[in-house]
Amino acid sequence: MVIIEPENNFSSLKTQLLVNYVFTNDVLSLSLSKVTPNFDPIIGEIIESKEFTAKDGTMCIIHNKVGSDIKRVLLLGMGNRESLDTEKTRNLTGKVVNKAKELAISEFVLVPFDEMDEDHLSAIVEGIKLSDYSFSNYKKDEDKFDLNQVRILITGDLASNQKIIQRSSIVSDAVILTRDISNLPPNDCSPKDLANFAGKLSGNKKTKVRVIEEQELEANGFGGIMAVGKGSTNSPKLIVIEYSGSSQDEKPVVIVGKAVTFDTGGISIKPSDKMEEMKFDKCGGCNVIGIMKAVSDLDLDKNVIGLIPAVENMPSGSSYRPGDIIKMYNTKTVEVLNTDAEGRIILGDALAFAVKTFSPRVIIDMATLTGAAIIALGSNVAALVGNNEELVTKILEYSNKTGEKIWELPLFEDHKEQLKSSNADIKNIGGRSAGAITAAAFLSHFVDDTPWAHLDIAGTAWNQEGTREKTYNPKGATGFGIRTIVKYISSYNAH
Ligand code: BES
Ligand code: MN
Ligand code: ZN
Repeated sequence: MVIIEPENNFSSLKTQLLVNYVFTNDVLSLSLSKVTPNFDPIIGEIIESKEFTAKDGTMCIIHNKVGSDIKRVLLLGMGNRESLDTEKTRNLTGKVVNKAKELAISEFVLVPFDEMDEDHLSAIVEGIKLSDYSFSNYKKDEDKFDLNQVRILITGDLASNQKIIQRSSIVSDAVILTRDISNLPPNDCSPKDLANFAGKLSGNKKTKVRVIEEQELEANGFGGIMAVGKGSTNSPKLIVIEYSGSSQDEKPVVIVGKAVTFDTGGISIKPSDKMEEMKFDKCGGCNVIGIMKAVSDLDLDKNVIGLIPAVENMPSGSSYRPGDIIKMYNTKTVEVLNTDAEGRIILGDALAFAVKTFSPRVIIDMATLTGAAIIALGSNVAALVGNNEELVTKILEYSNKTGEKIWELPLFEDHKEQLKSSNADIKNIGGRSAGAITAAAFLSHFVDDTPWAHLDIAGTAWNQEGTREKTYNPKGATGFGIRTIVKYISSYNAH
């Protein structure tokens, strides 16, 4: 695991690779004299020859004399200064990581640029840590190379920058934990396995983990989770993670994540093409584990609850069927017309349980809920539906900072009409049109008046067809949403 540290020794720096962010605007006057003057003449020649013009993502490596303390310099093209944003910083910093690993360089030093504020520094840390990730537990060691250490030269206050680096490292490590669990194959990640991973969070004194098992679910009227879980030999669970960072009377933020450890569709079975990708149908729940890990490692002074309804959606003699009418935790009845619309059913129970048990300040749920969200927005943007403008606005605002693209979809009464059933209170599908919205409309039946936001991460939870390549999202699960929601939780003012 790569360690990132601030560095303020400019005068006698030793490193394998000194990395400079270069903008097209000032490529002509480029000088490293502040750190090491002896590269300037050769840099001048390289610039003059137009070998390096600082276009987005271009790189140029220059070697120093043998025996020098700074072995090489890397110029990283950042394009035009005016087009700089944190997303570019995050993505292009990742390019340096990949280059260093390709060259078997285990350590490098970054020289900051003028605009390097808190957001850019965070983006740099994320770019390094998240690009360095790979899921390789199941592969014999090939030629794996470890990046050990990155130092960032800091001109300003060391302590405050150290804090920013630490915070971003904690959040990035939480994303990495989530990716590791999300990427697990379905034979190694049952609801029980998920409960065990969540259980490890109780190492923190302020964090309690409780698992509501099948019998208790049955006895307490969790008809939705029970129905979807029935078809599998792996029994369903509701995982409850409670973090108490503030006084008891402070209302918590509740984060709910869909964890279908494998979604075959059940009796309404899916076609076999790409069915293996449905191991990622647990990503919402895995995000909750990551978020709770970040919240406790950051030692936030808030109360936060994580809820993970975890099931496997399988076809068998004991499966729920199309036509079944089930009674949910809040006593509403649901006519099941498609067993593949299972995520909303388990979430409905979890949301109703949250409202009843915790009287939350806000509820945010995350779920790989609908293919329709991908049809609507593609594989690079998550859909957001909510019942509270302030909450929605904040999430959108933070998403602009994290680079996790989110777009709001409306939820009107007209959409809710699509769920009317002739045999029960509602049905679990609303027809072909506005599929991502009608799924959210279904969820809205279980949150009452609690401020609530729903994130459909079906397109963004893992690298899939249509995903734009980003260095910091290597193949497999992305942990999309964690950074935005942790920012939301850290920033809200409880008083
Ligand atoms: N887990 C799927 C949604 C999904 C599909 C996520 C593809 C990511 C990629 C969900 O449980 C599902 O099957 N939804 C159905 C709903 C339909 C039956 C109303 C869908 O989207 O087709
Ligand atoms: Mn499904
Ligand atoms: Zn599903």
